[in-house]
Amino acid sequence: MPRFLIQTFGCQMNVHDSRRIEEVLYERGYEAATEPEHADLIVFNTCSVREKADHKLRSMLGTFREWKERKPDLVFAVAGCMAQQQGEAMLSHLDLVDVVIGPDNIPELPDLVRQVMDGGPPVARTVFDLDAPSFLIARVRPGHPEASAYVTVMKGCDERCTYCIVPYTRGAERYRSAADIVAEIKVLCAGGVREITLLGQTVNSWHEPSEPVGSESRFAELLRRIAVEAPELLRLRYTSPHPRHITDELVRAHAELDVLPAHVHLPVQSGSDRILRMMLRRYRQKDYLERARALLQARPSFTLATDIIVGFPTETESDFQDTLTLVREVGYSSVFAFKYSPRPHTPALRLPDDVSEELKTERLARLFEVADELQSRHLQSLVGSRVQVLVEGPSKSNPLRYTGRSERHEIVHLEVPEGHDPTGQLIAARVIEANKRSLLAAPLQALPPSAARPPAPKRNASMRLPVVMS
Ligand code: SAH
Ligand code: SF4
Ligand code: F3S
Repeated sequence: MPRFLIQTFGCQMNVHDSRRIEEVLYERGYEAATEPEHADLIVFNTCSVREKADHKLRSMLGTFREWKERKPDLVFAVAGCMAQQQGEAMLSHLDLVDVVIGPDNIPELPDLVRQVMDGGPPVARTVFDLDAPSFLIARVRPGHPEASAYVTVMKGCDERCTYCIVPYTRGAERYRSAADIVAEIKVLCAGGVREITLLGQTVNSWHEPSEPVGSESRFAELLRRIAVEAPELLRLRYTSPHPRHITDELVRAHAELDVLPAHVHLPVQSGSDRILRMMLRRYRQKDYLERARALLQARPSFTLATDIIVGFPTETESDFQDTLTLVREVGYSSVFAFKYSPRPHTPALRLPDDVSEELKTERLARLFEVADELQSRHLQSLVGSRVQVLVEGPSKSNPLRYTGRSERHEIVHLEVPEGHDPTGQLIAARVIEANKRSLLAAPLQALPPSAARPPAPKRNASMRLPVVMS
């Protein structure tokens, strides 16, 4: 039986795709390699959102070169956004790569790998399914219960933010019907899933595929329908929303639906109107702030997280100050910030990348200083309060603790007495300590004994390798 290993880079779409790649391989008789050196197939699921991500693949392939020399029939497949971006060209400049597969071609992976294993030449398949879009569906594996799952509601992106390669690597927007989305969620819930994260590049622009391109968002309706038709769900998250589709209906849904957590990750990218215009983000600082405030007021103790790019072409100190002002004004609970990185095929390539590397580094550090202070103040303010923790599993660093997420998405470590296992449960707990990026809490209720749960899934080698966020 051939054995595989997957190395995942990039965003949650890629984490979802990697799980689907695993399933496609299981269905064709593969098993997960328990030790990396036992693998017959290694899949690199790549990201190309920043230049650093490209470099990561090269250095990763470098570390595996020796293995391939020792085991010449080991197959290397490259999936994800770099695969889509480079297509066949990747085969000529990365000599170790045997298969290049785009995000829309994942079901074809086992056949392509078979061809190569049978002695065929290296092969690339990166074709978008624009005419008849299909959506990869999570399969519940008996004996492998999981508390959380991703469900795609739309794929691709028509926004064209000027810095971003994603519209090129993921293609045009394609939407999935509410009936299909709800049916998938019901199957997942029946299999024990209690938290769903809806996925899409502009997830909250969702409307029925039968409606014309550019129709108004009906995302809030979708959330309401899921809440009604999947009552077993404990949490319904979504990523990534675009600020221009935070409608009044969506804000109202947050106020009314308990299943929506009191937290949204709402990328802003910059606080300067001049830069936002050059980025083609299609909102001004004041529009963003107005939407952010509406969400923050929808529910008590609502928090927002965001993405920010520093050093976009022509960004001045005054533009950057506008970003810092906005960050303080919103009071984000966490900030993901990146230095601008020029990407192929993007409109911003026509602009000079004129903010020096030193200045980008300096601005990033200043931004993190403000963000860290906000985060630590926020976490401190929660000490003594009650949180609802959806437990994801045992803590990686301490065997007496379990880790989960609060209703606002803070990471919470839970003290669990020996012989108990609250994985997949929603546990009421009291926060006893705030760390730099997480909370420590003590349960306020009895915990289920370990034996009450089916055995935890056998961890395979690909699960043991870290997900590398670019
Ligand atoms: N669809 C999502 C995010 C896509 S990429 C959205 O619109 O929110 C994830 C993040 O990477 C972006 O939010 C942006 O902050 C960052 N990013 C994208 N392109 C970049 C580039 N060229 N340089 C630096 N950061 C970039
Ligand atoms: Fe990229 Fe903008 Fe689309 Fe997000 S909305 S994927 S940042 S083009
Ligand atoms: Fe995600 Fe990176 Fe592609 S952020 S969509 S894997 S370019």
